[in-house]
Amino acid sequence: MTATTTTSITTALLHLSTLLHLSTTAFSIGVNYGTLANDLPSPSQVANFLKTQTIIDSIKIFDTNPDILRGFANTNITVTVTVGNGDIPALVDANAASRWVANNIEQFYPQTRIKLIAVGNEILFTGNKEWISHLVPCIKSLHQALVRAGINDVKVSTPYTLGILQNSVQPSAARIKPAYGKVVFAPMLEFLRQTKSPLLVNPYPYFSYSPSMEDYILFKPNPGIHDDNTNITYTNMFVAMMDAVYSAIKAMGYDDLDIVVAESGWPSLGDPNQPMCTVENAVLYNKNMIKVVTSGEGTPLMPKRRFETYVFALFNENLKPGTAAERNWGLFRPDFSPVYDVGILSNIGKSTGSSPSPTKSPFTGPSTSPTKRPPTGSSSSPTKSPSTGSSPSTDSSPSPTTSPSTGSSPAPTTSKTWSEPKADASDEALQANKDYVCSQGAHCKPIQTGGACFNPNNIRSHAALLIPLIMMWFVYI
Ligand SMILES: *[C@@H]1O[C@H](CO)[C@@H](O)[C@H](O)[C@H]1NC(C)=O
Ligand SMILES: *[C@@H]1O[C@H](CO)[C@@H](O)[C@H](O)[C@H]1NC(C)=O
Repeated sequence: MTATTTTSITTALLHLSTLLHLSTTAFSIGVNYGTLANDLPSPSQVANFLKTQTIIDSIKIFDTNPDILRGFANTNITVTVTVGNGDIPALVDANAASRWVANNIEQFYPQTRIKLIAVGNEILFTGNKEWISHLVPCIKSLHQALVRAGINDVKVSTPYTLGILQNSVQPSAARIKPAYGKVVFAPMLEFLRQTKSPLLVNPYPYFSYSPSMEDYILFKPNPGIHDDNTNITYTNMFVAMMDAVYSAIKAMGYDDLDIVVAESGWPSLGDPNQPMCTVENAVLYNKNMIKVVTSGEGTPLMPKRRFETYVFALFNENLKPGTAAERNWGLFRPDFSPVYDVGILSNIGKSTGSSPSPTKSPFTGPSTSPTKRPPTGSSSSPTKSPSTGSSPSTDSSPSPTTSPSTGSSPAPTTSKTWSEPKADASDEALQANKDYVCSQGAHCKPIQTGGACFNPNNIRSHAALLIPLIMMWFVYI
């Protein structure tokens, strides 16, 4: 095999591109541009802001909003669009796929640098059999439609949660769940290889938060978790998650695929029972996560690799249901003032603090103040806040340097409505858990019926189902 040669060439190219890249900006990064809000600036204002004030060079949207696609024309900012989950079955048909490509891609391309079509969002996680069974055929159908339209540089893929992985404490031992391996995953990985398209994953250490895991999750000094197979000690969960994904696809023979971090982030504000949602923690997580994906150091199992990454999210979105955390994932407020700075501002003086001057905001609008705590009444939705149960502290702003004083065990009384699968719970049991959780909250319904929940950005419900256990990225699909 020429793997070594390939590696060294790749390494050399990486060094070269590092040098070239450093001459302009230190790094570039992508963002998820969700729009579940009524106070956001216009897409062209957003495009102009990103281009002139930040080093963000790529966006991912949760639909094919024509206003956004038009707004980003001629900006050289790349765009990843998303096919609505409910559209997946119909688009298996070649004519339907061609119509979709004509309406949503050809109209805007190449003035708008559409780069990738994400087919649905976290489809395996939804548990919807109709969508799951049509996922790979739909991806292939859209790819063929692009080929017929003469478009060769728009890739097609689909984002996965880390629920695709079987429980594994050791990243090297992580595997795709057998239930999905042959049916969905093998053909998917083969398609991605043939079309040189990336695997998209949404790793969220946030959803595994517990006070006892805080240092490991937030990149603070900690003893780490030793992987006995490789003798690698992992000192943060994000890197462990990336190596787990790598190990899982490597075991299926696809370690050559690019892995894209399609979503990851941390909310800067939460309800009183979400004390982990602070500006300090959001800065810690995002800054360190961005460092991992852009530094060129890579991970222990993927040394010297960079990972195209889309931070979740660009804006705080005031219409997202659920806990306050849901509405506070943003790097920016709707008036473009940074909620905090993790080094992504370009021209304007880089803010050193977390409270940049609002006078720097180039636009003012009818925006309501996003820093206000949303009504607490909405926090009763159980499908949105996985971490709620494990965070009994009522202090909404704990010092980031100390774990909440309540200790490492989630308070059982506050997690009553939550499923609590054990690490060895069967898929059936976990499915039962999901059914139970979904029966408790309105949010699962639109996902399951496939109709109403059109915007995949709204599907944060998996939050509810990720239970904070050690290295818990697996849970279930
Ligand atoms: C557009 O962005 C690419 C990187 O994605 C860069 O190589 C290229 O020089 C840019 N083109 C212009 C005109 O800025
Ligand atoms: C890990 O380290 C132990 C102790 O040094 C050694 O016995 C073992 O062979 C190592 N395993 C691997 C996979 O390197």
